[in-house]
Amino acid sequence: IRVEFLDYEAIADRGWDLEDDRLFAKAADADLAPADHGRLLVEPDESLLEAAENRGFSWPFSCRGGACANCAVYLVEGELSQPANHILSEEHAERGFRLSCNGYPLSDELKVVFNVKHLPELDELRL
Ligand code: FES
Repeated sequence: IRVEFLDYEAIADRGWDLEDDRLFAKAADADLAPADHGRLLVEPDESLLEAAENRGFSWPFSCRGGACANCAVYLVEGELSQPANHILSEEHAERGFRLSCNGYPLSDELKVVFNVKHLPELDELRL
């Protein structure tokens, strides 16, 4: 399963909009550092966070149990399962927020923004 990822900090630094349809095209044009924008593969038994870690990336996390939202990502394309979620509201989920610590890809391709814990609305949830 192929995942294209983008760091929320790169979006915030440039004043881009999370819901901009051209977000990933802009990222590709901006020549960002490999840790900020790139691709990784997720094996079937890996959560998204585990896959990022196993490929050498350091994405934020804390509890690994669906309770803190430090590992939250925003889905731009594709679907991620959410077996345990004790922190994000249904409204967050509907808008595309997921927890990467226990989120397993349900589609062959995904585009995600990681590090969205810095969004003000998620920042206030974090423990
Ligand atoms: Fe705490 Fe994922 S690391 S919810």
